[in-house]
Amino acid sequence: MSINNESSYLRNTQNSQRWYSRACRVFPGGVSHNIRFFEPYPFFVEKAHTKYLYDVDSNAYTDYWMGHWALILGHSPKHIQNRLIRQMQEGTLFGTANNASVILAEQIQKAASPVDLMRFCSTGSEATMYATRLARAFTKKRIIVKSVGGWHGFNTNLMHAVNYPFETTEGIGIDEGQGEFVKSIPFNDLEGSIHILDGIKEDLSCIIIEPVLGAGGAIPGKKDFLIGLQEYVKKNNIVWIIDEIVTGFRLHYGTFCALNNLQPDLITLGKIVGGGFPIGVVGGSKEIMKLADPVLKKDKRERCFIGGGTFSSNPISMKAGMLTMQFLEKNKEKVYRRINSLGNEYRQKLSRLFTDSKIPVDVTGMGSLFQVHFLKGSMNEITNAVDASTADQERLFNYHRRLISDHGIFNLPRKMAAISYAHNKSDLNKLVSATEDLINRSIFDTNVA
Ligand SMILES: Cc1ncc(COP(=O)(O)O)c(C=O)c1O
Repeated sequence: MSINNESSYLRNTQNSQRWYSRACRVFPGGVSHNIRFFEPYPFFVEKAHTKYLYDVDSNAYTDYWMGHWALILGHSPKHIQNRLIRQMQEGTLFGTANNASVILAEQIQKAASPVDLMRFCSTGSEATMYATRLARAFTKKRIIVKSVGGWHGFNTNLMHAVNYPFETTEGIGIDEGQGEFVKSIPFNDLEGSIHILDGIKEDLSCIIIEPVLGAGGAIPGKKDFLIGLQEYVKKNNIVWIIDEIVTGFRLHYGTFCALNNLQPDLITLGKIVGGGFPIGVVGGSKEIMKLADPVLKKDKRERCFIGGGTFSSNPISMKAGMLTMQFLEKNKEKVYRRINSLGNEYRQKLSRLFTDSKIPVDVTGMGSLFQVHFLKGSMNEITNAVDASTADQERLFNYHRRLISDHGIFNLPRKMAAISYAHNKSDLNKLVSATEDLINRSIFDTNVA
């Protein structure tokens, strides 16, 4: 990847460069999550407030990464801060049953039907791991199906067909045999998917799908694809899992499923429902979830062991989640109208700007989520993760990098952006005029980095 013309970034982030050298002595690659690295080195954040990140060189960035898309209300919303300070004084980890967890669970249950029962854990990766384990326990079958480019976190089962080229294994250290019981279907291609499913349905436990590919490129699932898969699983007694870790409470006060006539057996949630603190949720049909009931299933041979973990239901995540959900419920008209209509405007305006400048793009997304894809060759739209991965990644990287260095606007390079309730029209205008400036300075011309 070209790093020409980077002088302003290097000049303005000298403290970050020093922190990066220190970080490389303690973390492989200097980061604790692979995607947080970008060339030549990431800026190091010291604090964040509303829609801004502030780095160790005192640069401010308008943030569209928003904590891996978790922060729907922006960084550290005021009305949540004070309540959390009180909770810090009253205990951060009880490690016992606690009432705050019941309140948050009731709130989720009321809004995220169909969730008869649920379990809290600390990450989305755990939630999807537990969901697939429950499906195997329930069906007594082995194969898990996900989509090509679907991202469900770092659990070993689901580290399959995540990164381009999708046919090869996801790195060393994952047993090649693992793939025998994990298969991938082409996203948004119902016929191609059913062809694969028909060949494995005798041993098929579940299909797990993101209804909008997030890390795979901000690509909404088409109605016929999602409904077609749903009909297939219902007909063949396969557990239907919808991963709503990104979409849950992002598009409206509830799930994507509720808006789109999807009736999963299990769903997973995370991000938004933790109010900026670690969380994962697996929930759904009583019939399946009760396999994990330690009171009912005393004999370990009959129980499906799902977590938890040390930090599950900790009172900080529970309170932050509860306060966020209460705010969203109370202000749902205002919040979702604002962020969804901003999202539509971002997509339309960016699309028009590039198209008028004869730069072929597809600006994908839904609601407050968006991503620009620079089309190559004969491509004219992005409908799956293969399209997204084979679009012009270098142009996308240069666009995001120049937004950071020249305009103080942060999209995690090459990744989907999320608008929060802290953003407004002036942020839209700023992004549009920054993009216009970069177009006028020819950074999208071939060979100009
Ligand atoms: C759809 C989806 N599922 C699961 C996960 C994993 O969640 P976590 O990073 O909390 O483990 C992510 C993370 O981005 C995600 O986007």
